[in-house]
Amino acid sequence: MKSILFVASEGLPFIKSGGLADVIGSLPYSLKQKNMDVRVVLPLYLKIALNHRESFKKVKTFPVLTGQINTVATLYEKDVQGVIYYFIEHQGYFEREGLYGYYDDGARFAFFQKAVLEMLRELQFYPEIIHSHDWHTGMIPAMCKIHYANDKKYQKIKHVYTIHNLAYQGNFPVSVLTDCLGISDSFYHDGSMRFYQGISFMKAGILFADKISTVSPTYSHEILTKEYGENMDEVLSYRKDDLWGITNGIDTKLWDPSKDKLLSKKYSLKSYASGKKANKKALQEELGLRVTPDTMLVGMVSRLTNQKGIHLILEKLADIMGLDLQFIVLGSGEGHIEDAFKHMEYKYKRRAVFYCGYNEELAHRIYAGCDVFLMPSLFEPCGISQLIAMRYGTLPLVRETGGLKDTVTPFNQYDNTGTGFSFASKSSDDLYYTLRYACDTYYLNSIGFNAMIENAMKEDVSFEKSCKLYLEMYNMVLTKK
Ligand code: ADP
Ligand code: GLC
Repeated sequence: MKSILFVASEGLPFIKSGGLADVIGSLPYSLKQKNMDVRVVLPLYLKIALNHRESFKKVKTFPVLTGQINTVATLYEKDVQGVIYYFIEHQGYFEREGLYGYYDDGARFAFFQKAVLEMLRELQFYPEIIHSHDWHTGMIPAMCKIHYANDKKYQKIKHVYTIHNLAYQGNFPVSVLTDCLGISDSFYHDGSMRFYQGISFMKAGILFADKISTVSPTYSHEILTKEYGENMDEVLSYRKDDLWGITNGIDTKLWDPSKDKLLSKKYSLKSYASGKKANKKALQEELGLRVTPDTMLVGMVSRLTNQKGIHLILEKLADIMGLDLQFIVLGSGEGHIEDAFKHMEYKYKRRAVFYCGYNEELAHRIYAGCDVFLMPSLFEPCGISQLIAMRYGTLPLVRETGGLKDTVTPFNQYDNTGTGFSFASKSSDDLYYTLRYACDTYYLNSIGFNAMIENAMKEDVSFEKSCKLYLEMYNMVLTKK
């Protein structure tokens, strides 16, 4: 049985800020079904301590020396459906309100990565592969090679590094390299960890891992270009023969309209017509919209950041609200976007609602009760939301980028194929025309619209297919001399 350790900064069912947590909560379980020994390690944040620590088993406390900082980590574990989750506790670093965005993030995640590597010796568990995710874990391959150069058990470990979002790179001053990671500044001077005037965890992950992957084939090509490369395109091009693009799936047990207890009415492929209508009515009541279940309801569940293409909506909001639709937004993020949506709610009372914040239960009801799910991202490594929307028979309206392009097939009104609507350019006009087309289809071509709902609900959005590709990649890593 192959052994793999996933190292990540968030993961369900313990902690989530975005799609990374969905992946870390579902891919390990799918790999476990393929007879792999998969374990996961996460930081023990305040929210996890408050909600879950009682149910964890304490393993041990051990010393961690990272650069100039000599401290300790306490390790906990919990078995979730056969997958062991480990938690690294350090109250000073992790027991805070949020997950990221602190002045000492460099030190916090330097500690986490060193503690993970030390944990292996403490447990006498040396996985064949360490699979690290995003910038928070980008230094693991390099640290493993540099700090444990004389230890054969560590040197045998292969490294896979997955980029979930190239826009977040973990770029810090050189002092983080020397003082927090205990790595010589020669790696800055020779360029391998240097990024402009500082260092980059993401760049180190790209250069030191044995294989790199990202979360959709289209994004894996896009990031080699100036437009999407976030100034890492040349580094990535250097490793392009080792770069894989593997599309995300979702946890189809967690997201299942026929079993979802959070819905006012459960529904399946056979009963979606009445089921979705009942959920729409309940959602309109819950959020104070005018209760007209025949009106097209458009929803959005999103981090409110530039990435998500929200300015395309805001530029055309008056025209969009001129269509016969209602609009729900659930999300939080940049202040100016939140302000614009608050204003929208005020201006279009009982037709538009903005729920400012993070609310998983409401998210389920929005995925179920809406007709169209809006996701006009400027870039989207994969996207989990459009997959959930399809599973709930809510048609995604997306910009053709990254994983959105790979997972949503645009409607063809001549043969009723497709699972949603899409447009190509970063143009608010095109977004508006596509939404108008969706509206026309909803009101005037219900055969076409319903055919799409059925196509979307039948789509395989599980991790099954992608699991096979991960296995292929792992095999290749292990057989490479
Ligand atoms: P990203 O990871 O870039 O934010 P994804 O589409 O991959 O985008 O994943 C977003 C995940 O976070 C989805 O599961 C979505 O339902 C969830 N989500 C985003 N914002 C909220 C929110 N405000 N409340 C509840 N869930 C949210
Ligand atoms: C990132 C990306 C998103 C992707 C998720 C999980 O947050 O923005 O597109 O689905 O990671 O891979």
